[in-house]
Amino acid sequence: MNREDLLDQLSGRALGRPLKWFDVTDSTNTQAVSAVMAGQADHGAVFIAGRQTAGRGTDGHSWDSSEPVGLWMSIVLREQHSASPELTLMPAIAVAKVLREKWGIDAHLKWPNDVLVGDRKIAGILVESIVQAGGVVHVVGIGVNLNQTGFSGELKATACSGRMVLDRVLPLPIFFGQLVAELESWWRRPQEWVQAWSSLTAMIGRRAELIRSGSAQTVQVMGLTPLGHLLVRDEMGEETQVISRSGLDVRLPSRNAKENHEDAA
Ligand code: BTN
Repeated sequence: MNREDLLDQLSGRALGRPLKWFDVTDSTNTQAVSAVMAGQADHGAVFIAGRQTAGRGTDGHSWDSSEPVGLWMSIVLREQHSASPELTLMPAIAVAKVLREKWGIDAHLKWPNDVLVGDRKIAGILVESIVQAGGVVHVVGIGVNLNQTGFSGELKATACSGRMVLDRVLPLPIFFGQLVAELESWWRRPQEWVQAWSSLTAMIGRRAELIRSGSAQTVQVMGLTPLGHLLVRDEMGEETQVISRSGLDVRLPSRNAKENHEDAA
């Protein structure tokens, strides 16, 4: 696996260049943020690694990516319109579409941007935004578990990989090319993000726990607002818009997603 194998998958693509490949780095998001701040990376630049020694997840968590068994990449996207729905939805749509349409994996979304198969996470997204004189630049970090054969510790019950689902290897360059194509296509269509996201989730209509500053509240998930915020209804019937931010989570009861969806409908 080298940089050329990845570039070969990008013919006809506007996104994906320049492409910086690391056999090993600390975190592709850290590398991309530094490059953007130094004025060395603009819209479309990709930072991708075989292994990360300090992969970062949301809320200050680490992201297990010390082995070359996944897609560990960050792409730089320059904001188009500040009135677009939350950008953070878009990469999750793109990942889920690739998993479903190219690989036949029954992936679905958990707000705002976790990609799950059943109750287990197969991909996560970390968006870091930098405000510059010319506008906002987003570093979109995408981690997809492609080829792990199992997980240990607390991930054992909560994570899965494409290989565990399909019992075959998913080649990184091919998956990468498919994902950049989807990102390019969805990036152009912000007006379709809310609808697309909604069609890829099993959350709508379900009961969930809204965790804010450590305290939990039982709510029913009603759907997304036009800006991509989560609309929930509390037990008193009051509706609230939830905006994705640090320290906030919406947890679903740990059961088969489809059954629960049908129960609540
Ligand atoms: C999550 O917690 O769900 C987000 C995980 C994001 C992981 C990816 S892997 C590539 C990029 N580099 C990082 O350090 N994190 C993101």
